[in-house]
Amino acid sequence: MDGMKKAIVIYDSKFGNTEKIARALRQGMKKQGIKVDCVKVDGVDVNKLVEYDFLAIGGPTHRRSVSESMKFFLGKLSSVDLKGKKVFAFDTKRRHWLAGSAAKSIEKELRRMDLKIIKRYSSAIIFEEEKGERRESETKEEWKERWRRSARLQEGMEEMFEQIGVEIAKSIR
Ligand SMILES: Cc1cc2nc3c(=O)[nH]c(=O)nc-3n(C[C@H](O)[C@H](O)[C@H](O)COP(=O)(O)O)c2cc1C
Repeated sequence: MDGMKKAIVIYDSKFGNTEKIARALRQGMKKQGIKVDCVKVDGVDVNKLVEYDFLAIGGPTHRRSVSESMKFFLGKLSSVDLKGKKVFAFDTKRRHWLAGSAAKSIEKELRRMDLKIIKRYSSAIIFEEEKGERRESETKEEWKERWRRSARLQEGMEEMFEQIGVEIAKSIR
């Protein structure tokens, strides 16, 4: 066997939606016989990433860009030499013209590190429930947090990312 290809899906997630997308991506790749690890950003040892053939990196969109943990991770990532490694960026975000995209920022960073983007970044769309009325017991911040916590993936997003996983696996095999 000429060494089975190894991939890793690195994700950040506050409310669990991006984690679901990361797992769907992994599932698609696994179906194609690729060995895939799936790890949250905080648990990644960047010095061990050289052993992978492919890295998928994704997180929630926060303030039109990456989350704090993702920002910290990307900083560490740029300190190791992974030049030429195959990568793909993804995120979760709202469907709104001003929403911004974490994946776009991640992809830009990856390109700056001379990594090989094998597929343009993709976004999974989330929606939050109507904010409704603020409860008397809530502060404005708590109200906003309750609304944000209601984030759910739009229907079909996990299936879409499983399919992306299948496609990626075919292209790195
Ligand atoms: C602090 C904060 C800022 C956010 N800012 C944005 C934003 O600028 N654009 C956007 O589309 N969604 C924004 N969101 C919504 C996130 O995209 C959403 O919470 C996330 O996709 C859910 O993923 P998770 O369940 O993996 O945390 C924000 C959420 C939080 C908590």
